Amino acid sequence: MSRYLLSLDQGTTSSRAIAFNIDGSMAASSQQEFPQHFPKPGWVEHHASEIWQSTLTTAQQVIDQLGASADDIAAIGITNQRETTLIWDRATGEPIYPAIVWQDRRTADMCSELKQAGKEPWLQQRTGLLLDPYFSATKVAWILDHVEGARQRAERGELAFGTVDTYLLWQLTRGAVHATDATNASRTLLFNIHQQCWDDELLALFNIPASLLPDVRNSSDDFGSTHESWFGRSIPIGSVIGDQQSALVGQACFETGMAKSTYGTGCFVMMNSGEQALHSEHRLLTTVAYRLNDRVTYALEGSIFMAGATIQWIRDGLQLIAKASDTQLLAEQTGYDNPVYMVPAFAGLGAPYWDPDARGAILGLSRDTGIKEIVTAGLQAVCYQTRDLLEAMKADGVHPARLRVDGGMVVNDWLMQFLADVLGVEIQRPGITETTALGAAVLAGMQVGIYQGLDDISQLWQQQRSFPPQIEVEQQHQLYQGWLDAVRRVCNSQE
Ligand code: G3P
Repeated sequence: MSRYLLSLDQGTTSSRAIAFNIDGSMAASSQQEFPQHFPKPGWVEHHASEIWQSTLTTAQQVIDQLGASADDIAAIGITNQRETTLIWDRATGEPIYPAIVWQDRRTADMCSELKQAGKEPWLQQRTGLLLDPYFSATKVAWILDHVEGARQRAERGELAFGTVDTYLLWQLTRGAVHATDATNASRTLLFNIHQQCWDDELLALFNIPASLLPDVRNSSDDFGSTHESWFGRSIPIGSVIGDQQSALVGQACFETGMAKSTYGTGCFVMMNSGEQALHSEHRLLTTVAYRLNDRVTYALEGSIFMAGATIQWIRDGLQLIAKASDTQLLAEQTGYDNPVYMVPAFAGLGAPYWDPDARGAILGLSRDTGIKEIVTAGLQAVCYQTRDLLEAMKADGVHPARLRVDGGMVVNDWLMQFLADVLGVEIQRPGITETTALGAAVLAGMQVGIYQGLDDISQLWQQQRSFPPQIEVEQQHQLYQGWLDAVRRVCNSQE
């Protein structure tokens, strides 16, 4: 009998493969970073071949590590960086342009023109999203307009569009399956989240031919099988789900009001809103949390572009620390009363400001400012931005009572306590913090009958530690006001 579920977690800076045992514990993992390409200021690209090769290599390494064969893998789940856009030739599988990454800002002008034309409320109503270069539609339009002959080829049906999940699925099945799931589709600005279909009027607005689009399936579904050339035997692919939605599943946030926050490259807070697609008046996103057996569960999401990436910049760009884990000791030495504020708007600001033109700043420097204050300000910025998101949720009438956290940064106890204190809500850290990979794995497990439903998956979640808030409301208020003042200095569109 097959003993493992294999999750392929294709993220912004690295590809990972993790094999899970049926009880949700990790059996083996492999990770490979791949190059980021910045051809112009504000542009971010990935090479499709590097995405694919790192995914394939890590998957093969995990199977080797287990001492297993393809027969021991019950199913594969795919989870991925969302919105990142690829277009390839259906005949050869060759991309016609590098992947335009979700962080890429090249279509900011196109977005502001559409905004000025008054299109945003209409788009938000249908897609749950806002007019920002973050989402796929303007990236697709840009490729069609800038790659010679692309538009004509698209109209002739020769090209295929996909987010990273779709591209990996195409590669894994050697072109047999061109599909995505409802969570990934819901990030394109082309998908009607209420009717659960590609929307002709949206396609017309962005001038995108329907022939490019993948089939949209449930998050746990039949996505075909891997071609036998990759792993010796074919393995069923039982799930596809965007990485933040996958983390929501891995965190077992299945009840309305339950929320998680993932600290990877960026930070993404997502709250389950059940069968109701809540409309945000405060610039949060309404998105598909997961779709199972054709039933949609929605979520409210706040997206911050720079979380772990801020610490990476402090380490690699400024070279103030040797490794990310050094931040904890430095922050303990600095304490909460840090006069320095860092606004990490390296790629503009995401929710709730949505200012693609904002740029980063470090404020409050004096002659006695040293490395530890700047490093601490980087950590604190991640927490203040999370507070921005919870404030927006509160203004929209919902407020999670506690937050389940995951992602690489959450091993930092100081950061978790500061987060609890700045938010004034309990932070819950699970035993398995690789919840993004876990979500896709368990949904694949559901597809092949290992788990009967979400109740079985809930049983797998275990708390490792809780961080209740400890500071007075007055101190909390003071700290957060300092942040709001700092943001005001760099941002043109503060609410
Ligand atoms: O929306 C972008 C998000 O899916 C990227 O996630 O984990 O690669 O930072 P991550």
